[in-house]
Amino acid sequence: MLNDAQARHCARMREYLAEQITSADGWLSFERFMDMALYTPGMGYYSAGAHKLGVGGDFTTAPEVSRLFGACVARQCAEILSALGGGSILEIGAGSGRLAADVLLGLERLGLLPARYWILEISADLRERQRRQFAQHLPHLQERVHWLDQPPEEYFDGLVLANEVLDALPVTRFRWHPDKVEELGVVIDDSRFAWAPRPASVGVALACRRLAEAGGAWDDGYVSEYCPRLIPWTCSVTRSLRTGAALWFDYGLPRSQYYLPERHDGTLLCHFRQRAHGDPLIYPGLQDITAWVDYTSLAEASRAAGFTLSGFTTQSFFLAGSRIDHEMQTMAGGDANQFARLANEARQLMLPGEMGERFKAMAWLRGLEVSLSGFAMQDLRHTL
Ligand SMILES: C[S@@+](CC[C@H](N)C(=O)[O-])C[C@H]1O[C@@H](n2cnc3c(N)ncnc32)[C@H](O)[C@@H]1O
Repeated sequence: MLNDAQARHCARMREYLAEQITSADGWLSFERFMDMALYTPGMGYYSAGAHKLGVGGDFTTAPEVSRLFGACVARQCAEILSALGGGSILEIGAGSGRLAADVLLGLERLGLLPARYWILEISADLRERQRRQFAQHLPHLQERVHWLDQPPEEYFDGLVLANEVLDALPVTRFRWHPDKVEELGVVIDDSRFAWAPRPASVGVALACRRLAEAGGAWDDGYVSEYCPRLIPWTCSVTRSLRTGAALWFDYGLPRSQYYLPERHDGTLLCHFRQRAHGDPLIYPGLQDITAWVDYTSLAEASRAAGFTLSGFTTQSFFLAGSRIDHEMQTMAGGDANQFARLANEARQLMLPGEMGERFKAMAWLRGLEVSLSGFAMQDLRHTL
């Protein structure tokens, strides 16, 4: 059941989307629907005031599961900052600010604090939450944190960092037939939003043929999605990084696995009050809408942006390579109960049935040669 405020918010978002569908002659591409449902100023999921992450929110991310995640990311950042002789960090989509806080505290311990920690955050509500997080947990480091509306104009050396942001980029949804490709969009049917196909444009049809070649023999009616913004968006947010690394964490697969024939309904995943489901047309403005990341596309983006693809591995192996065992010992400080709690959190981050295998880590390097411990234990680049 929705409370009154949620019901009003959802009704306003529906009304807005319905107007957009009507003014687009009754059919709106899913990519535009997802964009509006997530980002319409004042109404979209990321632009309006839902609680979103953690206890009482819609979903939980790795930094919210355990401070071990941020501590391991900090170790990886330290290797890069050390090779550069210092630098700044740009985090995109910082959520509650937990990862930023843990990375800064970890880097402080390691004596490698960045000159600046920028946060590129689209949600005004989450920016406020991030400010509170820093005021509460690291008041002495607050002056290093700056918020941005756009990637920095000036060139900088250091790192770009993003956890679970790429999955929110709007995707094109398509349906495959041996003789034609359709793009799926949203229409109004009996006052409800419903899926409806249209013949795909040449661009969408060509993109789908490439994916079909990678995935295998699709049956008639195979449905999936791809993210046309992935390459331009990642190139644009990393453009001002002169020397350093970009680290990406998210759930996803290499293209040949993403588009396997048996994955015939794509990977769209919505989150509402800690429940995951596959219907993005309900609760617009109140629920998160995501799709898995095609990591082959992200590898192509690294080349397009002039980076070297330096590592690709599962979250589990990234954390093992970043010495999560050592972080557990340090954080527990000899307390057996603390150690047991941390071991439990580590299991959630690392077990294959939890976040360990679905989530991957990818590293890009620009103008820098350094071997990254987080990627040293397992190299999955050959799968891309
Ligand atoms: C799923 S949350 C992940 C938050 C955090 N990184 C974590 O791991 O807990 C997605 C975050 O990305 C932000 N976001 C989504 N799309 C964005 C965009 N296009 N540009 C910048 N931030 C974005 C959201 O507001 C939110 O902070």
